Amino acid sequence: MAAWVKVCEVKTLNNGEMIDFDHDEKKILVANINNKIYATDKICTHAYADLSTGFLNEDEKTVTCPLHMSRFNLESGVPENLPAEEPLKTYSTELRDGWIHILI
Ligand code: FES
Repeated sequence: MAAWVKVCEVKTLNNGEMIDFDHDEKKILVANINNKIYATDKICTHAYADLSTGFLNEDEKTVTCPLHMSRFNLESGVPENLPAEEPLKTYSTELRDGWIHILI
């Protein structure tokens, strides 16, 4: 069953930054773009690469995989270029009392 999980204080994740967050077996990427918080799976759907070591594009709201450079839309999880074809799982996020929460 899904539950809200506390991640970190929003003030520790600056605009244009991302962090990785592991919870049980879930490996999650949390990003702040223009002060909106996004959460997706952090392992690329093409091969085993950690997207939290990739590159954020604030204008496109994407993260680029550091291994073969697929760009994933952070809102939908959908890859915008090959070689990745499968979308990332995305998670709802919420701010409560200055803390980021993710529905996992
Ligand atoms: S591992 Fe991410 S695009 Fe290949």
